[in-house]
Amino acid sequence: MQVVKQISEVRKIVKDWKRQGLTVGLVPTMGYLHEGHKSLIVRAVAENDRVVVSDFVNPTQFAPNEDYETYPRDIEADAKLCADAGASLIFNPEPEEMYDNALTSVNMTKITEVLCGKTRPTHFSGVCTVVSKLFNIVTPDRAYFGQKDAQQLCVIKKMVKDLNFDIEIVGCPIVRESDGLAKSSRNTYLNNAEREAALCLSRSLEKGKKLIEGGEESVEAVLDVIKTEINKEPLAKIDYAELVDLEDLSPLVKTKKPFLCAIAVYIGKTRLIDNFIME
Ligand code: PAJ
Repeated sequence: MQVVKQISEVRKIVKDWKRQGLTVGLVPTMGYLHEGHKSLIVRAVAENDRVVVSDFVNPTQFAPNEDYETYPRDIEADAKLCADAGASLIFNPEPEEMYDNALTSVNMTKITEVLCGKTRPTHFSGVCTVVSKLFNIVTPDRAYFGQKDAQQLCVIKKMVKDLNFDIEIVGCPIVRESDGLAKSSRNTYLNNAEREAALCLSRSLEKGKKLIEGGEESVEAVLDVIKTEINKEPLAKIDYAELVDLEDLSPLVKTKKPFLCAIAVYIGKTRLIDNFIME
């Protein structure tokens, strides 16, 4: 497995694979890889002849007041995890290689303006732009995204449809720690007390899910239970807790499937997200 920093080099390698008739899977990441990322890579390896993992902390998806500078990075550990998972290549460009005085971006309306888009209004433009670029550089047959970032998955599927990318988007389930916390590179920001407090995310969602499974149809009642559970935790501050249509992310009144129940919660200064889907 090789670590490649140049776009031209990736293109050369992928062209060679395609000439041999091999299929290519892409797993876009920002690095500091954990078991959640690994599950995507393992799935991609099972379904494609060659797998490219992109490892790039994308500056355009961070607002100026966010954690771009401090976002954790460890390319050596990432390379080891990718090799173990069976990936063929890591694409690890410098920001200058990806954004060489670029003046173009990919913007989407509506579904990027709700949920995380409310507090992060420029975020999904950065995501759509970098993912489009990665799609054009790697030209994969399939690309793998986690349901952990459910809105991102929904946005990418819509972008692929709207812009006619000939790529199959594969959504993969959330990987959790044994106590329920969804794995995230940002979990490293949490101190011991915050790590404990962060369990209120998965715990509140479990309570909401149980209520729905018991027959509750009122979205208000479900969100009430979720918010009450989170608010019991003094270190937690809710950014949003919403139950929305899975296709267009519009708010629901009744728990009509398929839907997405998504939350974003500050634990101290760290903003964490979690969700569940019912189809
Ligand atoms: P990053 O946060 O590194 O996540 C890369 C991929 O791993 C995403 O598709 C994300 O949903 C998935 N992932 C993260 N934690 C997961 C977990 N616990 N279980 C399952 N999948 C998980 O998402 C990004 O990077 C960026 O926005 C990116 C798409 C790479 C564009 O820069």
